[in-house]
Amino acid sequence: MSIHQQLHTTSDTLISTLQFPELLFVEDKLQTVLNKADGLIQQTCVSLLQSGGKRVRPLLTLYSGMCFAPLNPQMIQAGVAAELIHMASLIHDDVIDKSATRRGKPTINSLYGDHAAILTGDYLFAEAFNILSTHQLLSSMTYLVEAIQAMCEGEVNQANEQFSSSISQEQYFQRITKKTGKLLSACCQSGAILAGAFPEEVAQMREYGLNIGYAYQITDDILDISGDADSLGKPVGTDFINGNMTLPFLYLMENPVYGTWLKEIMKTRKVNRQGIQSIKEALISSGCIDHAYLTATQCICNAKDSLTKIPRSPYRTTLVDLADSILLRTT
Ligand code: IPE
Ligand code: IPE
Ligand code: MG
Ligand code: MG
Repeated sequence: MSIHQQLHTTSDTLISTLQFPELLFVEDKLQTVLNKADGLIQQTCVSLLQSGGKRVRPLLTLYSGMCFAPLNPQMIQAGVAAELIHMASLIHDDVIDKSATRRGKPTINSLYGDHAAILTGDYLFAEAFNILSTHQLLSSMTYLVEAIQAMCEGEVNQANEQFSSSISQEQYFQRITKKTGKLLSACCQSGAILAGAFPEEVAQMREYGLNIGYAYQITDDILDISGDADSLGKPVGTDFINGNMTLPFLYLMENPVYGTWLKEIMKTRKVNRQGIQSIKEALISSGCIDHAYLTATQCICNAKDSLTKIPRSPYRTTLVDLADSILLRTT
C-alpha cells in the first residue's frame, strides 16, 4: 500500500501508525494527556482523537527531526503539542463554520453548543503549552505561538472578506499561509531544531512546510467542491455557503464566460442546493478545478525542491512521498 493509501484511505489512525511506527509514541501520549481531562472535555477530546485524523502535523515534526538526528523524546512531545493545537483549531473552526461533522462524527458545537466547543478548544491549546513548557521546548513554542497567531489572523481575514469579489490571488495566498502554511512549517522547523539542524537547514524545512501547507489548503478547498463528505468525514460545499472564496472560485470570477454570473450569485449571499450544483459544474467545465490543482502541484514541486538542499536519507524520501501524496488525497 502506498503512503497515500496508508494515510488517506481510512480515518483509522492505526493504519498510518503501521506505516509510520514512530507515530505510536505520539498516539500514546495524546491518549494519556486527553484521558486526564475532566468530564465533557475528556469525553469529547478522546472521541475526536479516536475518530481518526491523518496526524500530518506530528508526522511532519518527527520526520523533519529524523532527517537530522535519531528520534528523541522532545520531538515526540513537540509532535503531540502540534496535534493538540491542530485539534483545538479544528474545534474552533467548526464553531466559526457552523459545521455539523468532523472526522465522521458530530462536532462538539453541534452536540453541546458553541460554549462547550470554545472552552474545549481552549483547554487543548493550554494542554499543548503545558507540554511545551514542562519540557522546556522554547524554540518549538516560539514557532507554534507564531502559527496560532497567524491562524487567528487568517480566520479573521476570511470572515472580513465573505463573498468579496475583489479578493486577489495574492490575498488568498496570504490567507492560506496564515491558516495552514504556518502551522505545517512550524512543525517542520520545530522537529528540525530539536534534532540540532543548522539554521540554513531549518530554513529549508520552513520552506518545505510552507509549500506543502499551500498545497494542503488548496486541495482541501478543491475537496470542499468535488470531494465526498463521507470519505472526508466533514461536510462539503460549505466554503461557498459561508462566503469563503477559495482559489477555484477566484479563477472562476476571472472567467470570461462564468465570471459575471458567479459575481451576481455572490451578491445575493445565498445559494440553494441547485445553485451549488450549477456552480460546481461551472468550476469543473471551465477548468478552474484543474487550474487550482495545477497550482497545488507547483507548490509541491517547490516543497520538494527545498528538500534537495538537506542531507539525503530515508526520512527525507518519506517527506518527498508525503508531499506527493497531498495531491492525491481524498480524505
Ligand atoms: C483540516 O486538516 C484543516 C486544514 C488545515 C485543511 P486535516 O485534513 O489535516 O485534518 P485531520 O487532522 O486529518 O482531521
Ligand atoms: C482550515 O480551513 C481551518 C483551520 C486552519 C483550522 P477549513 O475551514 O477549510 O478547514 P475544514 O475544511 O473545516 O477542515
Ligand atoms: Mg472549516
Ligand atoms: Mg475546508
